[in-house]
Amino acid sequence: MSPSSAFLFSSLLVLSLIYSHGNALSSNYYENSCPQVEDIVTQVITEATKKDKTVPAALLRMHFHDCFIRGCDASVLLNSKGKNIAEKDGPPNVSLHAFYVIDNAKKAVEAVCPGIVSCADILAFAARDAVVVSGGPSWDVPKGRKDGRTSKASETRQLPAPTFNISQLQQSFSQRGLSLEDLVALSGGHTLGFSHCSSFSNRIHNFDATNDVDPTLHPSLASTLKGICPLKNRAKNAGTAMDTSSTTFDNSYYKLILQNKSLFSSDQALLSIPKTKTLVSDFASSKETFFKAFAKSMIKMSSINGGQEVRKDCRVVN
Ligand code: HEM
Repeated sequence: MSPSSAFLFSSLLVLSLIYSHGNALSSNYYENSCPQVEDIVTQVITEATKKDKTVPAALLRMHFHDCFIRGCDASVLLNSKGKNIAEKDGPPNVSLHAFYVIDNAKKAVEAVCPGIVSCADILAFAARDAVVVSGGPSWDVPKGRKDGRTSKASETRQLPAPTFNISQLQQSFSQRGLSLEDLVALSGGHTLGFSHCSSFSNRIHNFDATNDVDPTLHPSLASTLKGICPLKNRAKNAGTAMDTSSTTFDNSYYKLILQNKSLFSSDQALLSIPKTKTLVSDFASSKETFFKAFAKSMIKMSSINGGQEVRKDCRVVN
């Protein structure tokens, strides 16, 4: 193939990939129609975080759960209606919170540019801002997502579970066009937030036929977690911070994994094959390397396409 026909072929391939997956995203999508949108969203997220420090973690996880079901189409924001139980009410999503922050951002954007900006884009901006307000990296969010009209609680079964091993995690990510590097980088989202006992109880009670506690879990952490989450009589909202600095976006999550002090089996699983173990070490030893990889992988994850309309109200279809 001559260089020019190779160029034509690869351009066509890129175009066909974009169109076969729905809306093409671009960085200047709102340049003329709503140039202020990102500043407006940033302001709302900053204000909300001042009042409630748990907001950034909630928004980052919400965006991840949105993108993994039907693409980043704000399907996670829709309310259940009539007989339709929406994603938000599916088991892995009952602990999602701070939906009101997205409502506030949407209201503020609608007041300036009515009917222009999708809820899916607002959530993608909010997730980026959540990382930035917590001290993490920034990136240029691709824009032009559309909002979906379908949201089913049953589909939340497709989200990766905290009990997953490395091959289950790899499969879940590769089905969405994401690599092992994306898996390790994006798992770094676990530098922020809180986990309930149910998410790691498999590791501290009846782990397997021979061990009560996961032998790969550091004994001191295991006994702390058992104290917080006894088998019986545990407080309703019991749980623990995801890492030692759970409102700061940093690389301490990877340092903890190397000490066998991560919370979930799915975090610990990143040590189980050489490729991901090397990445964990790289990210533990350099915050800059982690930040670069995280931003790159967030752009990839947030570009998983879906959706058809620009919703007026993020909780209901038009
Ligand atoms: C690799 C597969 C993943 C699994 C199995 C997983 C699982 C979980 C679980 C079980 C929780 C705790 C929920 C609770 O008990 O309340 C959690 C929390 C969280 N996850 Fe993940 N997660 C994964 C990937 C990600 C990704 C890709 C991100 C974002 C880039 C992310 C961001 C978060 C955040 C920020 C929290 C804390 C939420 C809060 O405090 O409200 N997770 N995750």
